[in-house]
Amino acid sequence: MDNTVDNVIEMRHIVKQFGNFRANDDINLTLKKGEILALLGENGAGKSTLMNILSGLLQPTSGDIYVNGKKVIIKDPNTAKRLKIGMVHQHFMLAESFSVLENIILGNEITKGCFIDFKKEKEKIIELSKQYGLAVNLSAKISQTTVSQQQRIEILKVLYRGADILIFDEPTAVLTPQEITEFIKVIKGLVHEGKSIIFITHKLKEIKEACDRVTVIRRGKSIGTIDTSATTDQELADMMVGRKVNLNVTKPSSNIGDTILDVENLVVKDSRGVQIVKKLSLQVHRGEILGLAGIDGNGQDELVEALTGLRHVESGCIRIKGHDSTNQPVRKITQCGVAHVPADRQKYGLILSMSLADNLALQTYYEKPLSKHGFLQKNEMIKKAERLVNGFDIRAANLMIPAGDLSGGNQQKAIIARELDRNADLIIVFQPTRGLDVGAIEYIHEQLLKQREAGKAVLLVSYELDEILKLSDRIAVIHNGQISGTVLPADTNERELGLLMTGAVR
Ligand SMILES: Nc1ncnc2c1ncn2[C@@H]1O[C@H](COP(=O)(O)OP(=O)(O)OP(=O)(O)O)[C@@H](O)[C@H]1O
Ligand SMILES: [Mg+2]
Repeated sequence: MDNTVDNVIEMRHIVKQFGNFRANDDINLTLKKGEILALLGENGAGKSTLMNILSGLLQPTSGDIYVNGKKVIIKDPNTAKRLKIGMVHQHFMLAESFSVLENIILGNEITKGCFIDFKKEKEKIIELSKQYGLAVNLSAKISQTTVSQQQRIEILKVLYRGADILIFDEPTAVLTPQEITEFIKVIKGLVHEGKSIIFITHKLKEIKEACDRVTVIRRGKSIGTIDTSATTDQELADMMVGRKVNLNVTKPSSNIGDTILDVENLVVKDSRGVQIVKKLSLQVHRGEILGLAGIDGNGQDELVEALTGLRHVESGCIRIKGHDSTNQPVRKITQCGVAHVPADRQKYGLILSMSLADNLALQTYYEKPLSKHGFLQKNEMIKKAERLVNGFDIRAANLMIPAGDLSGGNQQKAIIARELDRNADLIIVFQPTRGLDVGAIEYIHEQLLKQREAGKAVLLVSYELDEILKLSDRIAVIHNGQISGTVLPADTNERELGLLMTGAVR
């Protein structure tokens, strides 16, 4: 059988070894011309590794790659570029202090030997952005852009470089539902023009909506490839995890107690100095999960930053267990019993150059038993790390690997493990299941419910309405810096929440 010509990419028997850990173990993958292929697998299954090999960032230990039927060696990203392969990485690779335009143009080979005609290139980029409906502000600095804008910039960058084969590594993990709809339109438009796409996502709904076929890998091994039209969410979930996954959580009834978090008339400014949280009030009680729903940019980031001591409060009051904690330093708030899973895991959640074990000890390294008479107890630290790695199924080659070398989802699991283990009375989680596979989501949801049963107060900020509806005891909707309504999950639906999120009153 020779259908190699239809296959723009064939990866055969790919093995990738990191020390004595095998991240890819005999993986096969084919991409047909003009299709969207989903690559599905648990956190740490080896998806990013496999795609980094295809884009020339990593070399396979063994195995062969064919592009348009011809065997190739992709020795670096420039070779990938010449083969018209472009990749948008899971963690963006943009230079913060440069402009959007500079980020798109720089690093492109046309610069070799001569100077760049910025004006001409700018026109080309504007043309591309119109053609694909990817609106960006070319003169803004990257540091001033939001993650969803950065996503668009990365897409423009690969298009500008003339890629025909595009790889997207979990682009939708950082996008809001509205942006995801847009993104899916964009990639459908791209295949319409004859481009071929590999799309990594953990969201089964997106696979069904956007992809023609799906290739599943598990713990570095090929499991199989199937047509998306011929499968179900349950089948995909079971294939990837290798056991039955319960896609529905059951929530026992709760015992709601005293107020743990009391926010009154809070006013907070954003980074440009504009009021973004406007006299907001809310309470979270013992034994309660309060879901905060809202469209990105309505003040939820700044609210959480203010609650956790990362942002100045202009006026109003934050009380935690009855103590005034308005404008207190981060460490004081942490010690007062507040756990925090931040929105940006690479900026605030982890220190990427430090080991996994050290990261798991952050926040508590100065307390007993990790610290004794001012000395760090290495053994205790390792014991704790082992317990959390096993408990939360953090998949890593070993405890000493730098956090930056963990897979994206395992970085997230590490932060959640550390924070939930702190026995804090108030747990503030921002998009806790971002980038997690369905099995890990199930587990984290169970853990959050356990915290609630143990009498903790949980503030859950999420853009995923089904997550909010599933877990919350009450749902507060934030719009334009204020709570536009508080509803009970049994008493509402996605449609009504959607309306409240745009500012409608109940
Ligand atoms: N440079 C490295 N050194 C050691 N181990 C590594 C390195 N890079 C990746 N790994 C390991 O290889 C495994 C696969 O990682 P990879 O990033 O490919 O997973 P993934 O399928 O993309 O997961 P996720 O869905 O969480 O993004 C992980 O266990 C990871 O820790
Ligand atoms: Mg990955």
